Amino acid sequence: MEKSAEKIVILTGAGISAESGLGTFRDEDGLWAKHRIEDVATPEGFARDPDLVHAFYNARRAQSADASPNAAHTALGELQRSWPGEVVIITQNVDGLHEQGGAEAVLHMHGTLDGALCAACDHRWPAPASMSPTELCPACAQPRTRPDIVWFGEMPYFMEAIYDHLAEADIFASIGTSGQVYPAAAFVQEAQMAGAHTVELNLEPSAGASSFAESRLGRASEIVPHWTGDILARA
Ligand code: APR
Repeated sequence: MEKSAEKIVILTGAGISAESGLGTFRDEDGLWAKHRIEDVATPEGFARDPDLVHAFYNARRAQSADASPNAAHTALGELQRSWPGEVVIITQNVDGLHEQGGAEAVLHMHGTLDGALCAACDHRWPAPASMSPTELCPACAQPRTRPDIVWFGEMPYFMEAIYDHLAEADIFASIGTSGQVYPAAAFVQEAQMAGAHTVELNLEPSAGASSFAESRLGRASEIVPHWTGDILARA
């Protein structure tokens, strides 16, 4: 296969948005140090206290609306535009910073803060800035509105398409994720089985660091533009 036809599959996590001011989950002062996962990120927590869960995501939506993409996001947008082969971006992030950084067709496997979902009829619509449990679904009129976020115990989105992409990957990069949440944490093995070159770009070695052929450690805003520059120099 010609080098120019190589397919690049990229997985991103909270670390890529950290320098845009959005908190990660598992770092020392991360979101999971301040909130209990079972309260704000499970269907059971939502059933128990929908006000609390909406307040949590309303705050994150507001914070996300104020954030701007950093050099790592824009470097991936530039890679997608300039690389002669396909560049697929899969993100666990629910912010819109990849798109604001110029990326297209991003697969938001854990959903997005921009979306509202009806728990009764699965209808989806754009989320208002502030959601509440009394909001009615525009399709079925039931008050079962929830954020369109994939919670623990739920099936991430786009899995069939993601596994197809991983099976065709020539290069797989994992950026800014701790490698502690499945199924994303196992994508490196899928890509490796497909014969892809695997590279991790993170502040520190992740839980799955030993599975990667290459490691680049540092802040995403520095190491991602460096990496995309190296890749584009080969095009
Ligand atoms: N540059 C690069 N990496 C960074 C930076 C930075 N500036 N800052 C932090 N990191 C790294 C951390 O070292 C850590 O390994 O980003 C990683 C963030 O890990 P997590 O907080 O666990 O976030 P993530 O891997 O995206 O979490 C996965 O868990 O709770 C769920 O659904 C949530 O999508 C999320 C999933």
